Amino acid sequence: MSATITIRRLQHTDASAYQELRLEALQTNPEAFGSSYEEEAPLALEAIEARISSSGPNAIFGAFSERRLVGMAGFAVYERMKARHKGVLWGVFVRPEWQGRHVGRDLVQRVIDHASRHVIMLEAAVGLTNENARRTYHGLGFRPYGIERKALRVGSVFHDEELLYLDLPRPGDV
Ligand SMILES: CC(C)(COP(=O)(O)OP(=O)(O)OC[C@H]1O[C@@H](n2cnc3c(N)ncnc32)[C@H](O)[C@@H]1OP(=O)(O)O)[C@@H](O)C(=O)NCCC(=O)NCCS
Repeated sequence: MSATITIRRLQHTDASAYQELRLEALQTNPEAFGSSYEEEAPLALEAIEARISSSGPNAIFGAFSERRLVGMAGFAVYERMKARHKGVLWGVFVRPEWQGRHVGRDLVQRVIDHASRHVIMLEAAVGLTNENARRTYHGLGFRPYGIERKALRVGSVFHDEELLYLDLPRPGDV
């Protein structure tokens, strides 16, 4: 697969493609996401459209091969007044056949660029055994600050997560 990948912010009209990819992600890698297929499969398209905000700080970016959505990464700002200087990277997934081609790296870089305009710190959590995601995040400058034991439970299996942060330059910093 050598087709060109385009990364852009998702719009409401992408809701159906996003929902399909999101459900694939939740089924394929349940240990990598806080949400679950069972919780999201029943969601109506209107609920998905509401999640995709096409303006403002909270955003989901998609990687497209021609017109097909093959990867995604989300960004959200903490809502509480005293935490609004921080944001979270969430929902990062690349279709298995596109993995290993730096689509994930480019998506997360896009989130970092976007986040830099809104917050001074970006957080992420990654499965302790998820080597590909850890390589991606560490390679982009994220640093570990702790481990959340038994962060997720999938069936009868508990998964620890590495907690990561990335300091972002304040606007105006050199
Ligand atoms: C984590 C993920 C988003 C990375 O996306 P990607 O497009 O594969 O990212 P990259 O191509 O930049 O690869 C990241 C690193 O993992 C390696 N890698 C990723 N997928 C690989 C594969 N299928 N085979 C071999 N190596 C792979 C790459 O070599 C790369 O390391 P390098 O930069 O040192 O060469 C993707 O693997 C994925 O969707 N995984 C399942 C869901 C998940 O874990 N999401 C993260 C939740 S925190």
